[in-house]
This record gives sequence, structure tokens and C-alpha cells, in this order.
Amino acid sequence: MSKVTVIGAGNVGATCANILAIKETANEVVLIDIKEGFAEGKMLDIFQTESLLDVDTKVVGVTNDYSKTANSDVIVVTSGLPRKPGMTREELIGVNAGIVKSVVTSALEFSPNAIVIIISNPMDPMTYLAGKITGLPKNRIFGMGGALDSARFKCYLSKALDVNINDIECMVIGGHGDTTMIPLLSKATYKGVPVTEFASEEVLKKVVADTMVGGATLTGLLGTSAWYAPGAAGAYVVESILKDQKKVIPSCVALDGEYGQTDICIGVPAVIGRNGVEKVLEISLTDEEKALFEKSVEAVRATNAVLKEINVL
Ligand code: LAC
Repeated sequence: MSKVTVIGAGNVGATCANILAIKETANEVVLIDIKEGFAEGKMLDIFQTESLLDVDTKVVGVTNDYSKTANSDVIVVTSGLPRKPGMTREELIGVNAGIVKSVVTSALEFSPNAIVIIISNPMDPMTYLAGKITGLPKNRIFGMGGALDSARFKCYLSKALDVNINDIECMVIGGHGDTTMIPLLSKATYKGVPVTEFASEEVLKKVVADTMVGGATLTGLLGTSAWYAPGAAGAYVVESILKDQKKVIPSCVALDGEYGQTDICIGVPAVIGRNGVEKVLEISLTDEEKALFEKSVEAVRATNAVLKEINVL
């Protein structure tokens, strides 16, 4: 029996809960929110799709009552404000830090053995904060950003090459920010063949640029931040944990010397299985990618420093 709690019944949280339910990834999915009746409504709506989709996941919606989340195997944190057009993810830190701190603490009281996935923005500092305040080992608390950014990289590569999206392999490392993420062009392939053999440097440069502002582009189009791909990316990570798939998923992990860094949570390729982050893969990077990673680390450290300035850490 497996149980997942998704905290935050906004667009990302509800989409994640919906995908987990309709894919029957867990036996029970709990959605919790502070807004009275909101999570209950979302889960009732999702339950009403189940006979149509021939699935029977137990779905529970709850207002603020963490006792209903007890003994979850995985906790997905999506609470907090989404960004509005023109905002960076980093600008959300003041409001979201307090929210993330409080919901993670409440959830772990009832599920002390859970693996915690942070999606709330700014995601890298929120993961760092959650790791520090809970003291959980690094395998049990990490952030989801790389799964989403890599899916966006795949999307733009498949459009540029005009090929099946599932024949593309690629990843994005570094921070989950418009200027901090690093789509690894040197590792991107079409059916195992470097994408550089199929598109010009100019085209690939645009793919990288589009990927980096993938979230901002959608925020501009939608008036709020995206949810289908962010929710699906969260569910993808949960599935790799619960089914012990050991997929390599770029994830925001606390580094202990890997890539020459300590005391930071940032996106690196990681093996995700039943124990959460089971391994950090230290892959070769080009000199340019190494320099970009250093720059990304500096930017994430600068945002982490704000956590101390605003007294949440
Ligand atoms: C995005 C948000 C969820 O990238 O960070 O769409």
C-alpha cells in the first residue's frame, strides 16, 4: 500500500494529484490546502473521473487537517504563491519561505518517514530551507525542477528537429531559474546521436534560450505560472520513487562535495528510487558548462542568503 500527500491544491498540486490518481501510481492520494473546501472539491471532482477512466485510487481532499496525511510515503510540497507575468521565481521568496517551512514541519509530524519533494518557488532555496529546518538526510528531501526543465528542453528540441519527442534524450542542470538553468546541449541526443548533427548552432542556441524562459513564456501567455507540465513532472518523480524505477532525473539535491560544492541544493542528475535520491551522478561537463554551473551556484547561494536576511533560517 502506498500513500502520497500533495500539499497545496492550486493548479500544480491538483494536476499532480490528478495524474497520480489516474495513473494509479499510489493506492491513496491526499490533497491538502488551507482554503476551506478547496482540496475537498478538487478531489471530489477527480473521484468523479475514476469510473470514466476505469481506475480506483483512493482520493482524499482535506482542509488543513494534517492527521489525514499520516503515514504518507511521499510528500509533495506545492504551496505558495505562483508568479505573475514579469516576475522572477526568486521574487516569491518572502511569502513562500514561511509557508514552506510551516507545511513541511506539519506534514513530517504525521509522516516522519516520508520522502519530501519540494516544488514551491524559488525551488532551490526552498529545498535548501526545508532541508535545513527538518535536518532530513539528503536522500529524503529534494527539489523538483530539472524534470520539468528537461521536459521543456525536450519539447523545444523536438519542435526544432521536427521529430518524435520521445526519441530525444536531454537534461537541464543548475538552478530552476530563468538565468540559472543549464540545458546541456553537449549531452542532448536524437536516438543516441548528438543533436548537433541535426540542427545548426543558431537553431540550437534558440532552443536553449527558449528552454530557459520556458516557464516565463507560459506565465506571459496564461497570466499565472504553468501547471500541466509542472504537475506531471512532480508525478513523474513520485512514480520513480514508489515503483523504485531508479530513473536518472535531474533534481535539486543537497551537494556534499559533488561538482566541488557543499552547503547548497541545486539541480544535478540523480538516480531516483524507493530511497529517494539514491545516487548523484557526476557527469563530465564542457568548460563552458562548468563555468555556467559555477555561475548558477553563485546565483542560488545569493538567493539562499536572503533566507537569513528575512529570518526564516
Ligand atoms: C514553472 C514553475 C512551476 O517553471 O516553476 O512553470
